[in-house]
Amino acid sequence: MTHWLVPWAKPYFGQEEIDLLMETARSGWMSQGARVRALEERVGTLTDCGHCVAVNSGTAALDVALKLMDVGPGDEVIVPAFAYIASANAILYQGATPVFADVEPETLNLDPKAAERQVTDRTKGIIALDYGGHGADWQTLRALARERGLFLVEDAAPAFGGAYRGRALGTMGDVGITSFHTAKIFTCIEGGMVFCRDGEQAEHARMIRSQGESPKAKYVHHVLGHNYRLSDVHAAVGLAQLGRYDEVRHRRAEAAAYYTERLSTVEGVRVPLVLSGHRHAWFLYSVRVPTRDAVRRRLAEAGIETNVSWPQPVYEQDPYKRFFRETCPVAEETCRSVLGLPLYFELKRDDQDLVVASLARALETRR
Ligand SMILES: Cc1ncc(COP(=O)(O)O)c(C=O)c1O
Repeated sequence: MTHWLVPWAKPYFGQEEIDLLMETARSGWMSQGARVRALEERVGTLTDCGHCVAVNSGTAALDVALKLMDVGPGDEVIVPAFAYIASANAILYQGATPVFADVEPETLNLDPKAAERQVTDRTKGIIALDYGGHGADWQTLRALARERGLFLVEDAAPAFGGAYRGRALGTMGDVGITSFHTAKIFTCIEGGMVFCRDGEQAEHARMIRSQGESPKAKYVHHVLGHNYRLSDVHAAVGLAQLGRYDEVRHRRAEAAAYYTERLSTVEGVRVPLVLSGHRHAWFLYSVRVPTRDAVRRRLAEAGIETNVSWPQPVYEQDPYKRFFRETCPVAEETCRSVLGLPLYFELKRDDQDLVVASLARALETRR
C-alpha cells in the first residue's frame, strides 16, 4: 500500500465512534433497532425531513427510491452522463431504460435544458445528483418535472450537509437519498438514507427495506422487498459522526475556501464555484486541469493522492453501451480534466500549501 504524504480522503474515526460501537455490542442488540431509529431522527432534525428511512447503502436507497416511483420495464428515466454508476444502476434494477443527458459546465450537475431534450412520451422521471456536494439547479428541474408530469429523484449521496435556498439537499425531489459510505463526509462505514415526502411513502420504503413485510404483522408480505436493513452497529457509528456535524462542515468549507484563494493565482486551474442560493457540502474539491493524467502522475510522485470522479461518462461503461444515444460533450470534457484534491476533516494548512505548490509545479513542467 502506498504511503501518501497527503491522502485524498481520510475518514475520521474517533473515541466517540469506538465508545458507541462498544456500547452497542454490549447492549445485546446489534441489528436494526433503537439506534437506527435514533439515526433517522437525528438526520431528520438536521434536514428538516420528518420521514427518513435508513438503509444499508446509498445504492439500496436509490433502488428503494425508484421502487417508490413505481418505475418498471418500458419506462425511460433521464440521468446525467457524468455520474456515479449507482445512479444509473438503480434504473436498470427496475428493468427500465436509462437515458443520458449532459451536465452544466459550472456545477457539473444535470443540465435542465439537456434533460428536456431527452424527454419522450416514455419518460417517467429524472434522477439528478448534487455533484461533489453542490446542489443541482433544483428550481428549473422542478419546473421541468411539473410541466412534463415527471417524477424527480434527488441523488444527494455526496451532498449530506449541503443546502439549496435554505433547504437541505436530499429533500429537493419527490424522494431523495444520501450515502453514509466510509469515504463520505459523515459515515456509518456503509449506510444510506431515503428522504421521503410523507408518512405513507416512508411506510412503503420501510416495507421494501425489510422483505416487503407488513408493519403490522410479522411474516405477512405486501410487496416484493429486499434486506436493505441497516444494523444498529452501523447506526451507532453514524450517530457518533453526526455529533461533529457543524464542526466537520465548517472545517471542510474553510479548507475549500483556502484552496480557492491559493489556487486563484495558479494558471490553468479551474476551481469549483458556489452559485448563489447554494450551500456546498464540500464532499469533493474538484478542479479541472489540462493534461490531467500527467498532472495527476506528478502529484503522486510528490506524495499527493488525488481522485478522479469520474473518468468515463456512464454510457461508456460496459453495461450501458447499448443505451448510448448521443455524445454529451461537457461530460466527456469533464471526464478528461476533473481532479479531486485532498479534502478531509484533519487536513492541515501545510498539507494544502504542499498540494497547491505541487499542482502549480506540475502544471508548469507541462509547458
Ligand atoms: C452520486 C452517487 N450516488 C450513489 C452512490 C452510492 O452510494 P453507496 O456507495 O453508499 O452505495 C454514490 C457513492 O459514492 C454516489 O457518489
